[in-house]
Amino acid sequence: MKETIKILAIETSCDETAAAVSDDGLNILSNIVASQIDWHQRYGGVVPEIASRKHMEFIKPVVEEALIKADLKLDQLDAIAATYGPGLVGSLLVGLSYAKALAFALGKPFIGVNHIVGHIYANFISKKEIKTPLICLTVSGGHTDLLFFKEYGDYIILGRTQDDAAGEAFDKIARYLGLGYPGGPLIEKKAKKGNENAIDFPRPFIDKDNYNFSFSGLKTAVINYIHNQKQKNIDLNLNNIAASFQKAVIDILVNKTLKAVKEHNVKSVILAGGVASNKRLQEEFKKRLKDSNTPFYHPKLELCTDNAAMISTVAYYKYINGEFSELNLNADPNLKI
Ligand code: KG4
Ligand code: ZN
Repeated sequence: MKETIKILAIETSCDETAAAVSDDGLNILSNIVASQIDWHQRYGGVVPEIASRKHMEFIKPVVEEALIKADLKLDQLDAIAATYGPGLVGSLLVGLSYAKALAFALGKPFIGVNHIVGHIYANFISKKEIKTPLICLTVSGGHTDLLFFKEYGDYIILGRTQDDAAGEAFDKIARYLGLGYPGGPLIEKKAKKGNENAIDFPRPFIDKDNYNFSFSGLKTAVINYIHNQKQKNIDLNLNNIAASFQKAVIDILVNKTLKAVKEHNVKSVILAGGVASNKRLQEEFKKRLKDSNTPFYHPKLELCTDNAAMISTVAYYKYINGEFSELNLNADPNLKI
């Protein structure tokens, strides 16, 4: 019987301590995520010092649980992988150091993985039918990147945000509205009860002849609108504000992606990152891509947000291409794809 490749991956780039084991990259044997949201929520966002301390506390039990769930012992693994950027440096260092120490002690190969590439590859888990070349929109708390993906490992960036990331805009507006953290799911919930055509917020860059994004002007427009309403003593309709803001972000994201689809000969469109879990965004993509007959994919909810399964999938492709990392690989908080 053919031996399969089993990889343990660790992900600690922000505020989730995660470990997963994959079998030949796409078959996920375990996917454990310990969320720190309860500790950061009271501050309205991630506190880097708390995040790295919590990673130190959670990393050992999370890795142990991933192995138990996968029903594997350390010596049955073929390689150890970890995210080495981008992210919070203190957080990255915990998972990266733990993975390198494990690889060294076990005498197994170590593989460093780019977190954003992980988000993209989350699409390929259990969706073997995805055809390349494709257009990928990655929308997370720190990134908004549009890329042309020729095949595994071969992609070019068409455009990215010039200021805030899409998820960051959701988080900032949610904080401004007093909704809490993380902002995306809370805005989405309010938006469901609101009218997305109630307020005509601007859609910066939407007609510009490039693939770049900008969300800071939209954010300022929402904040100005709130000030204005307050000055006039008008009660804020949070549902309408959330729905209209969300629709403006969605219009920008979908328009730019469709422009890329029109101008490139692609066989599918994929969505990646935490914002990809937004149901209204998924629905708008499905609706607008119907006419062009371009299949559209997004990862399932638990694979949209931060997890280690996506890191183990990338590590598998690196493993079969012999792309191993040195044990002196450092964390790179600004790592690009
Ligand atoms: O990919 P991710 O988990 O972490 C990063 O790599 O940043 O993305 C987190 C971001 C946060 O900004 C969060 O507000 C946003 O994804 N997000 C959402 C939704 N769920 C998470 N944004 C909009 N709608 C959602 N349902
Ligand atoms: Zn992420």
